Amino acid sequence: MSRPYCQFPITLALLAFPVFAADTPGSEAPVTFSKDVAPILYKNCAGCHRPNDIAPMSLLTYKDARPWAASIRQAVVQRIMPPWHADPHFGKFANDPRLRDEEIATISAWAKQGAKEGNPADLPPQPKFNDDWKIGKPDAIVDIGQDFKVDRKSVPDEYVYFTVDPHFTKDTWVKAVELRPGNRRVVHHAHVWIDTPETAESRPRVDANGNPIPNYVYKDEYGLQRLKPDAPVIQNGCLKEDGGNLPGRKLNDGTGPLGSYLPGKAPDAYPPGTAKLIPAGAKLKFQLHYNNTIGSPQTDRTQVGFIFADRPPEHPLRRVDSSAYLFLIPPGESNQEVSNCTTFQKDVMLMSYVAHMHFRGKDMRFEIERPNGQRETLLFVPHYSFAWQQIYRLQDPVRVEKGTRLIVTAHFDNSSNNKWNPDPTKTVRWGEPSTSEMMDGWVEYIDAPPAKPSQFTAQR
Ligand code: HEC
Repeated sequence: MSRPYCQFPITLALLAFPVFAADTPGSEAPVTFSKDVAPILYKNCAGCHRPNDIAPMSLLTYKDARPWAASIRQAVVQRIMPPWHADPHFGKFANDPRLRDEEIATISAWAKQGAKEGNPADLPPQPKFNDDWKIGKPDAIVDIGQDFKVDRKSVPDEYVYFTVDPHFTKDTWVKAVELRPGNRRVVHHAHVWIDTPETAESRPRVDANGNPIPNYVYKDEYGLQRLKPDAPVIQNGCLKEDGGNLPGRKLNDGTGPLGSYLPGKAPDAYPPGTAKLIPAGAKLKFQLHYNNTIGSPQTDRTQVGFIFADRPPEHPLRRVDSSAYLFLIPPGESNQEVSNCTTFQKDVMLMSYVAHMHFRGKDMRFEIERPNGQRETLLFVPHYSFAWQQIYRLQDPVRVEKGTRLIVTAHFDNSSNNKWNPDPTKTVRWGEPSTSEMMDGWVEYIDAPPAKPSQFTAQR
């Protein structure tokens, strides 16, 4: 992980002004855009901050970046940019984009010194971006099946579901999935998953003893699922196994979404040696979140590209959804705790985590409790943001034994202090619309290979 160019200004400061040492880097040494700042921006920011990508402004040239110097400084010093929401005390993640302290110091010094350009000859070459498929040439491309018009000006946020038949006539293992928005200006995010029959209608109606299982879910006038208002209230789903879940809803041991397009998220290239199965004849279900702030009608035809695996993988990638459905968030409540617990029935290796809530989501913690009682935090997202639903991919998989409990704890802010709150006067329950809430801890894993005595002892 050597990034020599960022260390340079610090070294320079130390050489020239040893008295000031590293805590005031560049307080004397001139820091310039061309030599010191551009390399940091090119590597860490330009992927989003370039023309036609998701960020509001390009940071590729001095002219682009100069007016933003003060806000760039603030954004990096406060670690708002690059976006990343995991508490650094827990877990090591392969996709952690955070800047190093020296890089922050360099940008800060640059802005404070008046954001000088320096010598344009020092500029590194501009990074090249691949506007084609990032996963490589797909083996199959499927789109949402229509040119969808996004012109409901009165509704800034619109969630639309499309179910399409990919015409896969045999079981197909995929190892990489990329969602490509048809119109980046209006597609806020998109998910695609295998359309499973896990719907309200298809859930079992009776339990193993023949007793009826109540159905607490209905479809609203837009066809979106919601919890019935008179469903029982369970805030603590850890009092019994998977206690916050809907009765009769199997603990999902499936694959979760095949892929997601989220602000700044890389396409889903699954960890080497793993893959997900699209069964023959399965349909694909897209969820598109549109946000048309342009003012003129737009159309979108989002696509998904798949790279096939050559053969069934050694380790299919699976996902457990520790989800709570039966919670209730009272109006004005600023810190409603909701939790759910599930137990692994076999030895597994954890690969990634996603926290999913809507606008009232405040924080989420993922913990495990091992059979020996040892409890540890895997991931803490202290300031959840609906706009940045990142996947946290572990640098090294975490091995957990059969009988280990996964504990997911969330807090919701339904008060008027939450600036994203659509309506603090509403009692909020589970539902697909973003004005309702969800509480999902998604954990990807593979079945664990048999433990070799020495191999995993260092794994916390
Ligand atoms: C993953 C994509 C992504 C990356 C990487 C990224 N940004 Fe951003 N940035 C955005 C988006 C989207 C916005 C606008 C929405 C927001 O503020 O969340 C933004 C907003 C900003 C803003 C404006 C904040 C304001 O005051 O309105 C600044 C400044 C900024 N980014 C600087 C940076 C810098 C510097 C880096 C690199 C160190 C960086 N960004 C990396 C996507 C990104």
